[in-house]
Amino acid sequence: MSNAEDSFIRLDDVTFSYREKIILNKVSLKLKKGDSYAVIGKSGVGKSTLLHLIAGFLKPNAGSIYIDQQEIKSVRKNTAFLFQELGLFPWQKVVQAVGMPLHLNKAGKASEIQNRVLSLLKELDLEHLKNKYPRELSGGEQQRVALARILITNPDLILMDEPTSSLDAMTKEQIQQLILKYQQKLKATMLFITHDIEEAVYLGKHILLLKPGGTFQVIENSFYSVPRAREQLGYYEQCIEIRKLLMDGETI
Ligand SMILES: Nc1ncnc2c1ncn2[C@@H]1O[C@H](COP(=O)(O)OP(=O)(O)OP(=O)(O)O)[C@@H](O)[C@H]1O
Ligand SMILES: [Mg+2]
Repeated sequence: MSNAEDSFIRLDDVTFSYREKIILNKVSLKLKKGDSYAVIGKSGVGKSTLLHLIAGFLKPNAGSIYIDQQEIKSVRKNTAFLFQELGLFPWQKVVQAVGMPLHLNKAGKASEIQNRVLSLLKELDLEHLKNKYPRELSGGEQQRVALARILITNPDLILMDEPTSSLDAMTKEQIQQLILKYQQKLKATMLFITHDIEEAVYLGKHILLLKPGGTFQVIENSFYSVPRAREQLGYYEQCIEIRKLLMDGETI
């Protein structure tokens, strides 16, 4: 295909339905390379479905999805996906879990893989937990291990489905800072779903509000990656504006 623009992800008239129920109807969307996008929208509107299509877990009924100029027919090597349930295996120690993607990709000798894993564990302050099993870790530690497992391959696309929804407020902020740091370090394009408007405003340069049928409203967010954003009134004003758009006149 020919595409001279800077869009990294492109959806062209993508339609997806579960049996007769149409979830996304002719959705077209362009996402820029290296930018961060928060997907918000009411429960059941199709956010996870959209992410699974971009990941290559699902196939559109009609239309096409391109990432980095390639049409997506199956799961792509440089796409990392973080599930809400994390998917850590109870029988894998931290060091094995984080090294697994590199072993699966045959990304080098065992000793090289070990060194890469240990240096990332150090960066994420997980080195002291390297021989622990998931059941021996706190929720926040498990989240950091799951994050390390997707970062170890240096992905150019990070997809996350409600990455911090099970964490308490303080741990959540720490994980959000880590996510931001690595998204910027890797210059990765990031698309994540959240129900937390404050998270969307902290981590999303653009906020995509998904509506029934797959129409989008795009909100440009000036508080993305702003240091100490949570100490600024404007940040909360932005959150309130987005909340109003999300609720669309409804009260809860
Ligand atoms: N495997 C499936 N089979 C049939 N219908 C499904 C399936 N998965 C999801 N759906 C339906 O598709 C719609 C969109 O689901 P999806 O999981 O994408 O929503 P969501 O926006 O992520 O919701 P939430 O915020 O609750 O996670 C929902 O109505 C859901 O019931
Ligand atoms: Mg969902």
